[in-house]
Amino acid sequence: MRPLKIAEGIYDVGVKDWNIRDFHGYSTYMGTTYNAFLIVDDDKVVLIDTVKEPFTHQFMENIRKIIDPQKIDMIISNHAEMDHSGALPRVLHLIGEETPVYCSKMGEKALSAHFNGKKINLNVVKPGTELKLGKRTLSFIETRMLHWPDSMFTYLKEDGILFSSDAFGQHYASHENFDDEMGEGLFEHAKKYFANILLPFAPRVEKLLESIESMDLPLNMICPDHGILWRKNPERILDRYASWARQENREKVIVMYDTMWNSTEKMARKIVDGARSTGVEVIPMSVRNWHRSDIMTELMDARALVVGSPTLNNGIFPTLCDVLCYMKGLKPKGKLGAAFGSYGWSGEAVKLLNNELDTMGFERIDDGLRTLYVPDSEALKACFDYGVGIGEAVKAKSAE
Ligand code: FEO
Repeated sequence: MRPLKIAEGIYDVGVKDWNIRDFHGYSTYMGTTYNAFLIVDDDKVVLIDTVKEPFTHQFMENIRKIIDPQKIDMIISNHAEMDHSGALPRVLHLIGEETPVYCSKMGEKALSAHFNGKKINLNVVKPGTELKLGKRTLSFIETRMLHWPDSMFTYLKEDGILFSSDAFGQHYASHENFDDEMGEGLFEHAKKYFANILLPFAPRVEKLLESIESMDLPLNMICPDHGILWRKNPERILDRYASWARQENREKVIVMYDTMWNSTEKMARKIVDGARSTGVEVIPMSVRNWHRSDIMTELMDARALVVGSPTLNNGIFPTLCDVLCYMKGLKPKGKLGAAFGSYGWSGEAVKLLNNELDTMGFERIDDGLRTLYVPDSEALKACFDYGVGIGEAVKAKSAE
């Protein structure tokens, strides 16, 4: 039910997007939410963030159930991306064009560029700036590049609530609203979100967590702009973020492949068996059946990526190019890499896959394994042994 009261005078007035299945390349198979927050204090009424533009009407209805929207004194824009700012022009039109919008310095640039030509009363808040609302006080924490240049957090001092924009979110829509209404599965959604949105900025996440710790802020609740709100010991999600940001790897191997006439798949199966025989965890992932964003989630804590492709028109199979391009942008670190594939005559795919692994900075185990046309029993034995070598390399690396 929205609006959702999260504390006395504080509401989530955002909306649930049950049906979205693709969020710029990320499979949102459980939908998502665009959370936005209304604080009704003695002197000021504040709206923190808005929602995606098509949900504006529903959003305004949520606000109307609490207060006449024209009573909103100010809007805080933690992040200019359109899933949180798309409704802003319409909201301003309804509540008063002159309503001040507070944002970061980069937020000023981003909002101006997004709503080119629209006059918005933008006000830059510096880190540490405080806004008095009556009984309560807002302050701001710059979180540049988490995950856009303009991103910031808003902290509500007296209630110990951190409005964290995209950070600590999950693409997850359900009738539940708080972490204590969910099982441990919630962390899988948070992990997927981190792997697909925040991973390139992992070093910044580490620094941010250190800086939050040094501020010694009481944290009763962390309210991200997507998914479930963290109110039962919010430290749990901070701890997970610390671990994900360090990119800690396990003895785990991803074998990601596509196949043309099942030869590369036969190789993949034997490599999986070989690696598994060494005792490491192995996940076979056909890119025909696994979404790129789920592959990234599994890769995040894996020690090694093994990629298999047949040679097609002197190149890599296009399905693998898709995933590798996506993966490159997310900058996973500290991985071992290896390549394999079946070929008919020219057989360039393995060499090209090696180049991809090198470009991503993966430590390549060797020059890869190729099989001419259909692997015979000898070739399959070579694949099994290849898998054993990968498993051993993973164990050796983990022992370093
Ligand atoms: Fe949920 Fe970066 O927007």
